[in-house]
Amino acid sequence: DRKIKIAPSILAADFANFGAECQAIEAQGADWVHVDVMDGHFVPNITFGPATCAAIRPHVQGVMDVHLMIAPVDPYVEAFANAGADVITAHVEAGPHIHRTLQAIRGAGAKAGVALNPGTPAGAVAELMDMVDLICVMTVNPGFGGQKFIDMTAKIRALRGMIGDRPIHIEIDGGVDPSTAPLVVQAGADVLVAGSAVFKGGSVSHPDAYGSNIRAI
Ligand code: DX5
Ligand code: ZN
Repeated sequence: DRKIKIAPSILAADFANFGAECQAIEAQGADWVHVDVMDGHFVPNITFGPATCAAIRPHVQGVMDVHLMIAPVDPYVEAFANAGADVITAHVEAGPHIHRTLQAIRGAGAKAGVALNPGTPAGAVAELMDMVDLICVMTVNPGFGGQKFIDMTAKIRALRGMIGDRPIHIEIDGGVDPSTAPLVVQAGADVLVAGSAVFKGGSVSHPDAYGSNIRAI
């Protein structure tokens, strides 16, 4: 189905309250929960790993969407699958063997995603169309929340054409807000990650803001 899904990124949540934050965003209408894993090597920031994902898992009823901004990926695929990730996304730029990585993700029982940095062309995933369930188009350079949206609509359109009638999601990550969301949806995206635009003005004790922010996107 092409219903648009909103996937709040808990990178913008209260790190001391992940369980309650996940419950709050789901109660307020989030479709997926997006979990940003950063290693301080592939990207210039560090967040958390499989143990934190496992701790979050019981507090997420829907899809736990794990975005790995790490290199290498392969040694950790099983740990994130065991932590309960439904979708595991690896970057095409993270190593020379993305095809092997995607095989490993599916082999571990998760849906496989591939992410493209803004500088990476659509053609980088041309040979992977039968290996993936999701393509994540980065609309910022990964590493931090709250950055300015970079227009990747031409790439999104190209990917939609390459996908054809395969059941592959196009997810957009970075700078998604009520002004940029319509552009990417128009171009063919169906999963929208949003960190700052969902969490701004709210908290676990004032979760209504999360709901109005989600509905505004
Ligand atoms: C960026 C992360 C994103 C980020 C999005 O490296 O992958 O998921 O949290 O944050 P916003 O929506 O604030 O740009
Ligand atoms: Zn992300």
